[in-house]
Order: sequence, then C-alpha cells, then structure tokens
Amino acid sequence: MSFLHLKDITKLYHKNTEIPAVHSVSLNIEKGEIISLLGPSGCGKTTTLRMIAGFEQPSEGTIELDGRMISSGEKAVAPEKRNIGMVFQDYALFPHLTIKKNVMFGLNQWKTREKRKRADEVLDLVGLASYGNRYPNELSGGQQQRVALARALAPKPNLILMDEPFSNLDAGLREKMRYDVTRILRETGTTAIIVTHDQKDAFAVSDRIVVMKEGEVQQIASPKEMYRCPKNCFVAQFVGKTNLMAGTMCQDLKHVDTHIGKVCLASHSEEMIENVKISIRPEGCRLSEEGRYNGVVETVTYGGEFQELTVRLNGSTEEAMSIYAPVETDIEPGSVVSFDITPELVALVE
Ligand SMILES: Nc1ncnc2c1ncn2[C@@H]1O[C@H](COP(=O)(O)OP(=O)(O)OP(=O)(O)O)[C@@H](O)[C@H]1O
Ligand SMILES: [Mg+2]
Repeated sequence: MSFLHLKDITKLYHKNTEIPAVHSVSLNIEKGEIISLLGPSGCGKTTTLRMIAGFEQPSEGTIELDGRMISSGEKAVAPEKRNIGMVFQDYALFPHLTIKKNVMFGLNQWKTREKRKRADEVLDLVGLASYGNRYPNELSGGQQQRVALARALAPKPNLILMDEPFSNLDAGLREKMRYDVTRILRETGTTAIIVTHDQKDAFAVSDRIVVMKEGEVQQIASPKEMYRCPKNCFVAQFVGKTNLMAGTMCQDLKHVDTHIGKVCLASHSEEMIENVKISIRPEGCRLSEEGRYNGVVETVTYGGEFQELTVRLNGSTEEAMSIYAPVETDIEPGSVVSFDITPELVALVE
C-alpha cells in the first residue's frame, strides 16, 4: 500500500456545475517521494492539495495517508489531525511574532522547552539559526520562505504540501530555493507534494511529475520520461517545446512517414495505427553536414545556452520546425541547413 493513496477523487464546488474542478484523480505516492503537480491556471492543482490537507471535502473518492483513511464519503479527519504540514505561496507568517515564535506556533501541544529546542533545530536546518529573534519583515523573501518551510517541518509531519512555493521569488533566488528546499526535504526524508505551474521547478525538484489539465490527470512520470515520452499533444507542448506533426505509421512499426520524410521512433509501436501524431523535441534535431533532412532557416533566436532556429523543410507548406543549435555555430536567416533526428527524442502522442 502506498504512503498516500488518492482514489478517484472528484470535486464539484457547486452541485449544479457541469465541469468538476477535479475529476476522478487517482494517485499513489511512496514515502520520501517528492511529487510536483504541474498544469495551467485553473486545472485543479490547489483544489487537489486542499483536499489532501482537509480544507476541502472531495465530492467523491477516498484519501488514505500512512495506512489511515483520512477522507471517505462524509467522513473526514480534521486538517489539524492529519499531521500534514503546509507551505503557502505568501508564506503566511505572523508579522507580530518573531521568527522563532512563528516556528513554535505549530507546536502548541509540546512542552515549552521542547518547543524551543525543536524551533532551534529546524531553523538550523534551513540555515537561519541566528535569525530567531527577528521579525518576518526583517527578512528577505527567500529567508521568509525558509521560515515557512521550517514552521511546516517543525511538528515532524507525515507529509508536506507546498502551493507555488517559488512564485514570489525572482529568477536567481528561485533557482537557489529549488535547490535548498529539495536538499532539506531529502535530508529529512520528508514526503512532499509541490504545486507549480513552472516546468523548470517541477523538473528540478521532483521524483515524479503529475501533469493536470481541466481537473484531470494527463500523465504521471519521472521528469525524464515525461520529457522523452509525453503521452499526448497537451503534455508534449506543456512540458517543454516541441514539434508536433501528423503522419502515417510504416509497416515496420518503427518509422512514421511525415511531411519532412520518414522519422524513426524511439521504440517500436506496439500496434499498427495508421494515422498518428509524433512529437519531436527541438534538441532531438542535430545539425550535420550530410543530415537526412534539409531546410532553410527562417529565424534565429539567441537563447543563451543554445540558439533556436525555425527551419522550413524544402518545399513544405507546413509549420516551420523548431531546432536548437549550438551557440558556437554561425547561422543566419536564409542559410540552408541539414540535420538528423535523434530517435530518443521522438515520441508517438495521442
Ligand atoms: N472555492 C471555490 N469555489 C468555486 N470554484 C472554485 C473554488 N476554488 C477554485 N474553484 C474553481 O476550480 C477550478 C480549479 O481551481 P484551482 O484553484 O484548483 O486551480 P489551480 O490549478 O490551482 O490554478 P492556479 O494555477 O491559477 O492557482 C477553477 O475553475 C476555479 O475557478
Ligand atoms: Mg492554485
């Protein structure tokens, strides 16, 4: 049995609304796993988190945590009895309490001495041991967020839920916090669900990613698998950039005939489906002197680590392809390029 088990969870905020905020979501999470919920605005990420935390009651389905049913039909364990820690987007620190008192706040059942000891312990863990006597407004955004994490970790919860924990931070700090938060969660062996709509966050912090759209789970996979083998067009486009194209499956079940020619798949298709769609990642197209595919460069966008080319395949009236080329290569719009496609970055998509 998994550590956290969501079974067919549905949430209808209003009985007469037709579209549920969350629709039949099932999810199994193992102890110590870090999971990201990723998806566009309004797809039901926060609602899912709130149901796990106990702030919302599912309309249907059951939730079990650590072998205990915490939500089933009308029966629900109160949020404070679930032993779940929560970190909100705005950190929700009490401005009139010192950092240490903020951290001690969640420990009201503990003896005062134990409370102080534990607060020191977790503040040390998040690298803020000497900040205990300050007030929240005397800390930077990243420091406040670490306090919020320390407060959530203090009661030694079974599970930590974080809703958009990095969204208030600027790019540089965001990257550092991704690293810090993951390290702290790993060090303490904490099971965590992190809600984000930023795929970089999801890729960097999680063991597995759950992509949602309109209340439904689209795919659950490791970051690498999600990137290499997106299940459908939505996932392929939402998680990174891609070239989608229609084609016909060849008899060998290993190639697809498209407007750019035959493209080799990462693995054999298990069945013969005549009309298919494939996703080709821009990194999967490698410029090469005598590549199999040829085209004319329409635009060049310098991206720092790479340059993005749009390439119109010879004579094609279809959308130009997006290709990432190394920055050291000199390419101008109008250049003729040839390239090969790495099968590992080609996937059949629904
Ligand atoms: N309290 C509520 N009452 C009624 N409808 C709600 C309520 N909270 C959310 N919804 C609706 O449920 C759907 C899912 O909302 P939710 O907040 O879970 O999305 P989200 O994925 O967290 O989006 P975002 O990325 O913008 O935070 C939306 O259509 C939203 O309007
Ligand atoms: Mg939300």
